[in-house]
Amino acid sequence: MQLGVHGFRLVASTPLSLSLDVFERMRLHRGSSSSNFRRPTILHLLCAACLFAAFLFIIQSSFFAGDQKSHLNRVEVRVLSDFQSSVQQCVANRGLGMMAQIIDHCTLILKFPEGTNSTWYNEQFKIFEPLEYKYDICEAILLWEQYRNMTTVLTREYLDARPDGWLDYAAKRIAQLGAEKCYNRSLCEEHLNLLLPAKPPFRPRQFHTCAVVGNSGDLLKTEFGKEIDSHDAVFRDNEAPVNEKYAKYVGLKRDFRLVVRGAARNMVTILNGSDDEVLIIKSLTHRDFNAMIKSIPNPVYLFQGIVLRRGAKGTGMKSIELALSMCDIVDIYGFTVDPGYTEWTRYFSTPRKGHNPLQGRAYYQLLECLGVIRIHSPMRAERRQDWSDIPNREMINRAHAAALSLKKSQAGQSGGLGQFGSCKVWGNAGSNDGPISGSPDMSPVRKNSNYNKWEVMPFESLRKEARDYYDQMGRVSLYKMDGNKLEDLVCVRHSPKSEA
Ligand SMILES: *[C@@H]1O[C@H](CO)[C@@H](O)[C@H](O)[C@H]1NC(C)=O
Ligand SMILES: *[C@@H]1O[C@H](CO)[C@@H](O)[C@H](O)[C@H]1NC(C)=O
Ligand SMILES: *[C@@H]1O[C@H](CO)[C@@H](O)[C@H](O)[C@H]1NC(C)=O
Ligand SMILES: *[C@@H]1O[C@H](CO)[C@@H](O)[C@H](O)[C@H]1NC(C)=O
Repeated sequence: MQLGVHGFRLVASTPLSLSLDVFERMRLHRGSSSSNFRRPTILHLLCAACLFAAFLFIIQSSFFAGDQKSHLNRVEVRVLSDFQSSVQQCVANRGLGMMAQIIDHCTLILKFPEGTNSTWYNEQFKIFEPLEYKYDICEAILLWEQYRNMTTVLTREYLDARPDGWLDYAAKRIAQLGAEKCYNRSLCEEHLNLLLPAKPPFRPRQFHTCAVVGNSGDLLKTEFGKEIDSHDAVFRDNEAPVNEKYAKYVGLKRDFRLVVRGAARNMVTILNGSDDEVLIIKSLTHRDFNAMIKSIPNPVYLFQGIVLRRGAKGTGMKSIELALSMCDIVDIYGFTVDPGYTEWTRYFSTPRKGHNPLQGRAYYQLLECLGVIRIHSPMRAERRQDWSDIPNREMINRAHAAALSLKKSQAGQSGGLGQFGSCKVWGNAGSNDGPISGSPDMSPVRKNSNYNKWEVMPFESLRKEARDYYDQMGRVSLYKMDGNKLEDLVCVRHSPKSEA
C-alpha cells in the first residue's frame, strides 16, 4: 500500500510540473509577442489537453501498477504477519513476563512487565534504561540468517579480494602500526602472518550443535556442565576458566575462545593444557598478542564481521555470530537473561560494571524467537528440552524469503534473490598458495604443534551438510565487508583444484 502511494507520487509529479511549465511558457509568449498571440494559445491549450489526458492515463496505469505491486507484496506481508504472530506467541511463552506488541508486519516492540526495576542509568542520554525496545524483524531475520552462510575469520583471500584490502583494511586490524594505511605491505604482512590463514579454516554447517558459554555468575545456580560438554563444539570467551573446580557448572570441553586484546596477558596460563583450543581475536592484533601467540601452540585467528549498532554489544554477540557461521543449533549458557539482575556478575570473579542489561535481555529473547539461539538459564532450566513454541525452520525460511523479496521490491531492485544476490565484490582464490598460516620466525613450540589442524582438514572429512552447502554455493565463500550492510559481501570463488 505504501508502495502504491509512493509510486503514484513519483509518476504524478512529472506531468504536473510539465503542465505548469507549459503555462509558464504561455505567459512568456504573451509578454514577448502579441502578434502571434492566438495561435500559440490554442496550440498550447491543445497541448495542455493532450497532457491532461496523458496525465489521467498515467495516473490510472500507475494505480494499476501499484495495485499489482501491492498485490504481489500482499503475499509477503501475509507470510511476515503470520511469522510475527508466532514470534509474539513465542515471546509470551518464553519471555518470563516479557510481551511483544506488533506494530506492522516488520515492526515489533518488546516490553518488560510493568514494575521491572530499571536500574541501569545511561550517562549519555541521562535516563534510566527504557522498558520497551523496538525491533525490525525483517531486518533482523535477514541479518542473522545471513550469518549461517558467512565466513567470520579473516583470511588472506579476503584481503586479496577486497578492493584495497591490504592498503586500507589490513591496517585497521593492527594496533600500534602507527599508520592509517598499510603503506608498507610487507610490514603489515609481518604483523598478520601469525594469524592469517590463506583460506577459511572453518565452514558453514561444520557442526550440528554448539554451546556458547558466557561468563555470567548465574552459571553457578545450575549445573549445565555435562549438557554443555555434549555439544559438538563449545565456544567460550576471554578469561573464562575451564577446570575441575567449575566443571559441573560450565563443563570441560574447549574448542573456541573469542578474546579481546586485554585478555592477551592471561592467555598462556588459561590455555595451558589445551593445545587445540582455537583463539579468535575479536578486535585488533598487537605486539603483546603476537608475542603471546609465538609462545603457544594454539591456532589463532582474527574475527571478521560487522559491528552491531543495535542490540547487546560485547563479546557475547560476536560469539553468537561466530558460532552461527559454523553451527546449525546454537545453545547459549551464562548470558544474563533472567529478570532480577541489578548487576553483571561473573562465575569466576567479582561483579563488574556492565552494559545495559534490559536491552541485551530483550534482544536475546528476540533472537530466540527468531530461531537464532536457544537460551539456557536458571529460570528456564526446567523446560530446556521443549522448543516447540519457537518458529520452526520451514517457517523461518519462508519469512526470510518474504523479507528478502519485500526489501528488494521496496528498493526497486529486481532479481538478486539468489545465494549471490548480495555479493558486491568478487574474488578468486589461487589454487596453490597453500592453506598455511604462520611466519618464518615461529617458535619451535608453535612449529611443532598441531596448530594448523583445522586449516588442513580435508574436505572429505567434513560433515555432509557442510560439504553439501559448499557444493550448493559453487565453492564460494562469503564475507561481510563493512558495517551493518546486508548487500556488501565479498565473495571468493575457490577453484576445485584448491580443495584436492
Ligand atoms: C531496584 O534496584 C535498586 C538497586 O539495586 C534497589 O535499591 C531498589 O530497591 C530496587 N527497587 C525495586 C522496586 O525492586
Ligand atoms: C544460504 O545458502 C543457502 C544454500 O546456498 C541458500 O539456500 C540460502 O538462501 C542462503 N541464505 C542466505 C540468508 O543467504
Ligand atoms: C617495509 O617493511 C619491511 C619489514 O619491516 C622493511 O624491511 C622494509 O625496509 C620496509 N620498506 C620500506 C620502504 O619502508
Ligand atoms: C601448565 O600446567 C602444568 C601442570 O598442569 C604446570 O606444571 C606448568 O607449570 C603450567 N605452565 C604454565 C605456563 O602455567
